[in-house]
Amino acid sequence: MTAAGLKSGPGGALRGTVRAPGDKSISHRSMILGALATGTTTVEGLLEGDDVLATARAMQAFGARIEREGVGRWRIEGQGGFSEPTDVIDCGNAGTGVRLIMGAAAGFALCATFTGDSSLRGRPMGRVLDPLARMGTTWLGRDKGRLPLTLKGGNLRGMSYRLPMASAQVKSAVLLAGLHAEGGVEVIEPEATRDHTERMLRGFGAEVIVEDKDGVRHIRLPEGQKLSGTHVAVPGDPSSAAFPLVAGLIVPGSEVTVEGVMLNELRTGLFTTLQEMGADLVISNVRMASGEEVGDITARHSALKGVVVPPERAPSMIDEYPILAIAAAFAEGETVMRGVGEMRVKESDRISLTANGLIACGVQVVEEPEGFIVTGTGQPPRGGGTVTTHGDHRIAMSHLILGMAAQQGVAVDEPGMIATSFPGFADLMRGLGADLSAA
Ligand code: S3P
Repeated sequence: MTAAGLKSGPGGALRGTVRAPGDKSISHRSMILGALATGTTTVEGLLEGDDVLATARAMQAFGARIEREGVGRWRIEGQGGFSEPTDVIDCGNAGTGVRLIMGAAAGFALCATFTGDSSLRGRPMGRVLDPLARMGTTWLGRDKGRLPLTLKGGNLRGMSYRLPMASAQVKSAVLLAGLHAEGGVEVIEPEATRDHTERMLRGFGAEVIVEDKDGVRHIRLPEGQKLSGTHVAVPGDPSSAAFPLVAGLIVPGSEVTVEGVMLNELRTGLFTTLQEMGADLVISNVRMASGEEVGDITARHSALKGVVVPPERAPSMIDEYPILAIAAAFAEGETVMRGVGEMRVKESDRISLTANGLIACGVQVVEEPEGFIVTGTGQPPRGGGTVTTHGDHRIAMSHLILGMAAQQGVAVDEPGMIATSFPGFADLMRGLGADLSAA
């Protein structure tokens, strides 16, 4: 999608209280599990971003009846399984959507063809297709398992699968396929990744056995699970809350509160890291919602210092490194981010685009194959760049936040893509006092 650009400029303090949009990971899973289940699933607080809407359309194509009942309120009538779609499934920009749906669809005797936008068509699907093939799925498609591809499911064998990379998407695809595999399935996870699929499968009535063996998680789904419709209250997305919160930290005089942020410790590595950098980030009003801890987070303008981010923290903040790099550009000293090679296979090559965007704004960055180092002076960087986002929503939002506190504003080229994960981002930031206008 190409639209007019968007630019942000330095302005006054940001102040106010906002609500984080619904969590993207949980929103996708609500749609998919609701469609796989028998009976009615009701969802409140669904993220109505383009990615999740693509997943909702896909679930309709596989036979679920889905209705929007109000803002963020959806009803899914699951058929207890998928039927064969009569058209190509277009998952848009959504890696989570397509990988989880392929896993879910593999359990049924059907053929389905998947595609997506140009970014998604360039992303690796082999990481999901390889384990699905071991379970008995066949597929036909382009070189190295890129979309578009056609998958033929049914008659799956169970297996024990050790994840070759820290990926909740791969884990989830195998677990969803495992719902219909003979003998059930086990996923061995050397590095813990977000556990929303496990928690939500339990919420839909499945038996999920998680054991820690010498620090390695073994997740087992015995054969013969039945899912029943339920109610899901989607908590606020920590990955989206990150943007107004970092803005609050770097714009002088600011105080920004984001309410209802999910605090699952497999998602909150950014907040821990910011606190280590000296951020005045206070979590209050901690409570439970739909099996997840949520809280309100207040960020006040802070003098930040560079830190070394432990590589083992990466899975708990993998989508947050671009916005962490913006905070690092305002910190004094080096912020070292290593062990993040997975960033190169997200919606864009996020190591390279974050480095390029910061360099265009006068920030010192050293790029490495699996990481990068940002050196700040403790003063606002120059800014003034126009950032190429390659259609990546998080690259766009991160650099717009940079422009709110740099000496000169920052423009991004494809702001339309922000709606994949954070529709209403520009209005929410303007409501806090940010200067955002068409470029
Ligand atoms: C997600 C997992 C992560 C993350 C993505 C959402 C999920 O991807 O980057 O935005 O909902 O499971 P990987 O599993 O590929 O790391």
